[in-house]
Amino acid sequence: MQDLINQHLAAIAAHAASTPDEVEQFRIKYLGRKGILNDLFEAFKVVPGDQKKLLGQELNKLKNAVQEKLDAMQSASSASTRNTEAFDLSRPTGTVPLGTRHPLAIVRREILDIFSRMGFTVADGPEIEDDWHVFSGLNFPPEHPARDMQDTFFIHKPEQEGEKEMVLRTHTSSVQVRAMENQKPPIRIVMPGRVYRNEAVSSRAHCQFHQIEGLYIDEGVSFADMKQTLQYFTQEFFGKAKIRLRPSYFPFTEPSAEMDVYWGLNSEADYRITKGTGWLEIMGCGMVDPAVLSASGIDPERYSGFAFGMGIERITMLRYQVDDLRMFFENDVRFLRQFQG
Ligand code: PHE
Repeated sequence: MQDLINQHLAAIAAHAASTPDEVEQFRIKYLGRKGILNDLFEAFKVVPGDQKKLLGQELNKLKNAVQEKLDAMQSASSASTRNTEAFDLSRPTGTVPLGTRHPLAIVRREILDIFSRMGFTVADGPEIEDDWHVFSGLNFPPEHPARDMQDTFFIHKPEQEGEKEMVLRTHTSSVQVRAMENQKPPIRIVMPGRVYRNEAVSSRAHCQFHQIEGLYIDEGVSFADMKQTLQYFTQEFFGKAKIRLRPSYFPFTEPSAEMDVYWGLNSEADYRITKGTGWLEIMGCGMVDPAVLSASGIDPERYSGFAFGMGIERITMLRYQVDDLRMFFENDVRFLRQFQG
């Protein structure tokens, strides 16, 4: 019996099995009901008493050897199935849901794209600005009521000599001033960005929104150039060709205008959004006031230019017929998922 046990120990040590089936066969061969170990324990019952102790130990050794071998083979084989079957890298996955661009971002990109085709490049500036770039440099005199046109968040009042009054910019026109200070004409830029106004007048008001500003300065730039540029933009963006310029007022442009697009009166919704006129106000614009040019170091005798500014939220609402501004800020995915671009 001792010899038999030794033979089995040697066989077990040399045994190799790789598939789960082979491992299972090994288990049945040794540990099955009619397996080798059961046979040996059967035979052990009739072993003479003086050999029992030694053979008992040998048998246990064999049993442990079988169990250890089995454990080792099982973990090796499950590691290899993990690499081959359970992780089939060529299997198609489930669909991964993709996000979409925010409608305001879609519209901003589209607007920048249209102006870049006309040779405008993108510029930006800080949202926390000093008084000069938001007001004084744009011809808003101190204490002038024009400053009330925009409800400003004042964030730092100067306490010492040399300190600047700091505000959250109320319009992107501040970037115009920075550009004129830092660049020589020709200047042809569009400036998208966040702006802030303290307009807690209704639940629909939002204190932060987005504008896109445009500026073109060179020799001989005329009002007609402005009109043509804005007409091209409206045609490209809304697919509508008819615009009109109504006289308006901004401290930094002279003459100033509001640009309207003829939206048409083809549906009930058209009557509602144009208040029955067919016309929609799109943006403010005008020829840069000579005083603004000289304040930024550009010679108004030699150069002229135009500027325009529009609210991205408003344009986006018109474009997609969204009638509540709050939709843009609530980030409800059911709303956002509808926009592709
Ligand atoms: N800054 C103006 C506003 O916020 C818009 C504007 C820009 C008007 C440029 C004229 C020229 O209302």
